Amino acid sequence: MSEQGHNPGGGTVTTGSQPIPRITLHAFMDKAVDRENLAAACKDRRMIRVTSEIHEGSVATASEFYSDQPTPNLLLVDVPQDREQAFTYLQTLAEACDPGTQVVVVGTLNDVAIYREFMRQGVSEYLVSPVSPVQFVETIANIYSNPGSQPLGKVHCFAGVKGGVGSSAIAHNVAWHLAETLGESTVILDLDLAFGTLGLNFNYEGGKGITEALLEPDRLDDVLLERLLYKATDKLQLFTSPASLDSGFDPAPKALEKVLDVVKANFAHIVVDLPHTWSSWARGVVMASDEIVLSLLPDLASLRNCKNLNDYLVGLRPNDPAPRLVLNMTEAPKRPEIPLREIVEAIGAEPACILSYDNLLFGTAANNGQMVSEVDAKNKNSLALLELASLLARRGASASSSAKDTSPLAPLKALLKGLKA
Ligand SMILES: Nc1ncnc2c1ncn2[C@@H]1O[C@H](COP(=O)(O)OP(=O)(O)OP(=O)(O)O)[C@@H](O)[C@H]1O
Ligand SMILES: [Mg+2]
Repeated sequence: MSEQGHNPGGGTVTTGSQPIPRITLHAFMDKAVDRENLAAACKDRRMIRVTSEIHEGSVATASEFYSDQPTPNLLLVDVPQDREQAFTYLQTLAEACDPGTQVVVVGTLNDVAIYREFMRQGVSEYLVSPVSPVQFVETIANIYSNPGSQPLGKVHCFAGVKGGVGSSAIAHNVAWHLAETLGESTVILDLDLAFGTLGLNFNYEGGKGITEALLEPDRLDDVLLERLLYKATDKLQLFTSPASLDSGFDPAPKALEKVLDVVKANFAHIVVDLPHTWSSWARGVVMASDEIVLSLLPDLASLRNCKNLNDYLVGLRPNDPAPRLVLNMTEAPKRPEIPLREIVEAIGAEPACILSYDNLLFGTAANNGQMVSEVDAKNKNSLALLELASLLARRGASASSSAKDTSPLAPLKALLKGLKA
């Protein structure tokens, strides 16, 4: 299998973006395709805290293996096609299992009676081989999701494929629409600690905002969060950077993780304004985000960088939506540009949003500390930014509660529910 993940079944994970807890997972599976797909699933960003061991074998090998060994939190085993044999081996395995170990069974029979029987035996889920990486991630996420927990906010990471392409302006305007037009509670995190423009763009000066949280992440709770945030409107709050050269440090990954965890519990949407850098902390933020928005200009350097970034991110995040591309500053007077058709061909993806060069609109907004829709709500760029916000606001990849069951047994489960009702 290649270094980068693959997603043979297609589709994206629908169980939310909450990381699966720090569990140990062992698997004993006969078929190479299932082992490869499970290995791909283990590279999914939700599985980053899971320690996994994948062996060739089946329930028979597992029951022998654990006769004198403690069992992991989660065990995935292949069962033979022969029903009798399958249940005999499962019985032996059950006797070896520590309390609290969850067992997921992988078999070849798509049969409701067998499914019922496995569930009666206390198996957490029965999956029909071949199991796709997305099915593995969803099954494991479903086992460990806490039904009482609040749905978490969606993280949208905005980055420019090169400097000065308008990524921050786009991030701030989209966040404004999420909050003001779509009515969703939203926070913007300015991670450009030395040169960030978030405060300027919303006419706000002062506060150390995000640096204080990043320097002392252990102190960050809901009370401190409230003190550090600036309330731009009822629904929109800002985590500004001091934009001072003293604060130009690289945030520690653990501190960023903590800040994101706290804001995710408090807002429906988290818009991250990333500076143009490719350091490891920035990569970590990009990888942990639900949505990635890459901004580019219709020029050669943008094209090359965007193609590289897009391919890289699609490869590493096979179970997530591809980055959304924003082609900015098209139709600039007296500036030759690469035609849209060639851009799409070279990158292999259509932009989700196209914005024309409009110095008057963006310049007026910047000078007044306003968003472009406040300057001219009917301008085509204002409307295109609203459309992008609506696209990002859609629940789907990140829906935590109303996840659709896409397992191969979904129709059977629905049938069972119908019979029970
Ligand atoms: N479509 C547009 N037409 C005209 N000006 C624009 C457009 N989009 C953005 N701008 C302006 O371009 C300038 C640079 O934008 P911005 O700071 O958002 O870019 P950036 O990609 O975040 O830059 P950096 O790499 O410094 O983070 C700003 O003055 C902004 O108002
Ligand atoms: Mg910027």
